[in-house]
Amino acid sequence: MRKLPAPPLPKALRPKPPAPGETSEVMDPVEAAADAGITVVDWLDERTSLSPGIRWLLFRKVPRGINWGYTLGSATLFAFLNQAVTGVFLAMYYEPNVNGGAYESIRNINDNVFLGQFVHGMHKWGASVMIILIFLHMGRVFFFGAYKYPRELTWIIGVVLLILTLAMGFTGYLLPFNQQSYWATIVGVNINGTGPFIGPYLSDFLRGGPEFGATTLSRFYAIHMLLIPGLMAALIGLHLYLVTKLGISAPPWIKVEEPEEVVPVAEV
Ligand code: HEM
Repeated sequence: MRKLPAPPLPKALRPKPPAPGETSEVMDPVEAAADAGITVVDWLDERTSLSPGIRWLLFRKVPRGINWGYTLGSATLFAFLNQAVTGVFLAMYYEPNVNGGAYESIRNINDNVFLGQFVHGMHKWGASVMIILIFLHMGRVFFFGAYKYPRELTWIIGVVLLILTLAMGFTGYLLPFNQQSYWATIVGVNINGTGPFIGPYLSDFLRGGPEFGATTLSRFYAIHMLLIPGLMAALIGLHLYLVTKLGISAPPWIKVEEPEEVVPVAEV
């Protein structure tokens, strides 16, 4: 059967005639799409020179014999990201108001907001998961001796991250403003106040004055959703920079391979 010729394309859609020196081959669409991706990445890379950095971060050598224990840092990072993402959605509905607003906004999230109870649950349980994971990660680092030279600074930043993670748990606990969170936080702030020298100042700072009230809740909220997460994101960045720069430590049972003994020629 004779094939009918394709209808003529409008002028704007017709392929451009090849410039002198160019081939006139027409690319198939999949190839053209892949080419477009490469062009975009090339465009970005030419302007930012990011690709060597990304290669440095992602294509690293790891020592022989590493195991599941080495995934605990990344698991902690994942828990942190889960807290950040779910926290953003909770902040869209939460009201730091002591006159029933905070309590009611949490009730609204759980009862009325689409997937609200799920997101709230992910945030609440995610907090415990993160604390468990950070301790397991720290345990792995400790028992493998990975805190020793040259990784002392990675460990010190880790200690600050641990304190900040616990502070996140403490400040977040007050936010639902129910009986349990209210009284537990009073106990926590009072315990802080018994600390030597800075204790009383610290508890005054946390309460936002001598009384536990509206300022305390907004202060806890600001610390919980702005101050500590910002600090943590910066410190995690630094922690991971050091992990990448220094490389992962080998498990303690992996022996360093001795270079083969070179027998001097004269002795042969
Ligand atoms: C938000 C908390 C933290 C995150 C997201 C985090 C993340 C990570 C990641 C992804 C690694 C590399 C993989 C691994 O060894 O698991 C790592 C390594 C390391 N972390 Fe953490 N970490 C955190 C807290 C801590 C804490 C609390 C400590 C100790 C007090 C610590 C000390 C170290 C050390 C010394 C290394 C190097 C381990 C090695 O080279 O074998 N980190 N961290």
